[in-house]
Amino acid sequence: MTRRPRNARRVEFGDFQTPLSLAKQICSLLVRQGCQPASIIEPTCGRGSFLLAALEHFPRWQTVLGVDVNAQYVHFLETQLCDRPGHDKIHLAVDNFFKRDWATEIERLPKPLLVLGNPPWVTNATLGSLGGKNLPKKSNHKNLNGLDAITGKSNFDISEWMLLEMLKWLNGREATLAMLCKTGVARKILQEAWKQELHLETVEIREVDAAKAFQAAVDACLLICKFCPQSSSRHAEWFSSLEAHLPRCSIGIHQGRFVADLPRFQKWEHLAGRSQIQWRSGIKHDCAKIMELQKEGARYRNGLHDLWEMEEEYLYPLLKSSDLAHRRIECPRKWLLVPQRFIGEDTLQIRESAPKTWNYLKTYIEHFNRRTSSIYRNRPPFSLFGVGEYSFAPAKVAISALHKKLDFIPLGRYARKPMVLDDTCYFLPCSSIAQAESLALLLNSSPAQKFLGSLIFWDAKRPITIEILQQLDLNALARELGKEATYLDCVENPFPKKRADLQKSFSFPSV
Ligand SMILES: C[S@@+](CC[C@H](N)C(=O)[O-])C[C@H]1O[C@@H](n2cnc3c(N)ncnc32)[C@H](O)[C@@H]1O
Repeated sequence: MTRRPRNARRVEFGDFQTPLSLAKQICSLLVRQGCQPASIIEPTCGRGSFLLAALEHFPRWQTVLGVDVNAQYVHFLETQLCDRPGHDKIHLAVDNFFKRDWATEIERLPKPLLVLGNPPWVTNATLGSLGGKNLPKKSNHKNLNGLDAITGKSNFDISEWMLLEMLKWLNGREATLAMLCKTGVARKILQEAWKQELHLETVEIREVDAAKAFQAAVDACLLICKFCPQSSSRHAEWFSSLEAHLPRCSIGIHQGRFVADLPRFQKWEHLAGRSQIQWRSGIKHDCAKIMELQKEGARYRNGLHDLWEMEEEYLYPLLKSSDLAHRRIECPRKWLLVPQRFIGEDTLQIRESAPKTWNYLKTYIEHFNRRTSSIYRNRPPFSLFGVGEYSFAPAKVAISALHKKLDFIPLGRYARKPMVLDDTCYFLPCSSIAQAESLALLLNSSPAQKFLGSLIFWDAKRPITIEILQQLDLNALARELGKEATYLDCVENPFPKKRADLQKSFSFPSV
């Protein structure tokens, strides 16, 4: 039997109990906002801080329901509540959120409803690594479009799924949801709720200091959704604390776009459209120890510290997001072995064209076989992703996807080879460094920065995405800057798309 880490159960069940003081602070905020529930529901109540605080703050309650999978917690809470007046209307149960028939139960409860609490903070990836089973059964919930989108993803928070379920129970009723969660989770939930046109009246996201309350290094918030059958609001006010009177910004859906700063987006809306040049992601290989090499004289050292001699044909100077973020671009630290020019290309030809490289790759084939991602399954050996003619464009305008700044960097060749990027970067392929420099100027201009900034959620793990970059209309931007004459050429004559054009425009001389 494999041994589980000592706190594995705590991690599996996302068990971070809310301090009573924070639960009280949240309840008094809800009271100030006019919340007067008849039914109070805590679907993962733990030791019951929220229920204890709610009983103190909402005098008109008629029924209370608390559920948790942890029997010790529920029994502890029972001992806290058994002597209270009206305890016969407080229903506690040891049960699994994923197995309970919530919809029927909630239908019967007196309205208005308040669902509050703090669902588990754990991702399915963490559960997978612990061998945990605290997951929803996907097949039971086909009717929830967003769920498929969420559970189909490689990594999702268990609370995302739980919160989407709770929104479904409350939709069309007079109800309030007040839940602590990661800000990233709140955003995803709202995006889905707005897409599904749920009947939301008002939504607030209020930042909470998770380090103080839970000793957790995450961006957390209180998500408050007020439902009303006649309403269909599509925006949320974002406050920097529980106490703040004025919102820091307003997020929402505008003309089908998910916007991080609505007033700012509206100011720069005329730049919205589709980029005339397709933004690309860098090369994905998932085998850094073998594919990323350091040049030592005429040889290359890999991540296992082995030194190899190889043909230069398949080696390219590599830049990663950290290089871009620190503008370390003059002299790339690493080289990337790129065995394919396009996705799915047969790699067997390397045996003939570059026997030393083939020998190198074959020596480490086990490292490639260990790549777990399904994208590499049934593909030629040593396959890559995010590779195409654009990867070898002689110049690029690149940006780090992981850093929290909009800094577009023009890149040319190095050692007479095009520089390549890894999948932590995005870029526009260009046919010359002059074109890359012009585009970088355009993209680093204030209007471009303000427009893109209005779409970016800076607290996200990967704040800058291709979808966001692609929404900036380069023609409109050139017009805005009065630079049409200078920029039109590069916007209208991007990196050649046809293979024949490509070969004409640049070649790949050896280093
Ligand atoms: C972040 S803690 C919060 C507890 C409580 N809501 C609070 O605010 O103090 C998450 C709680 O979810 C419970 N939990 C985890 N998975 C559950 C499941 N599948 N069904 C019911 N409760 C669950 C845990 O036992 C834990 O008490």
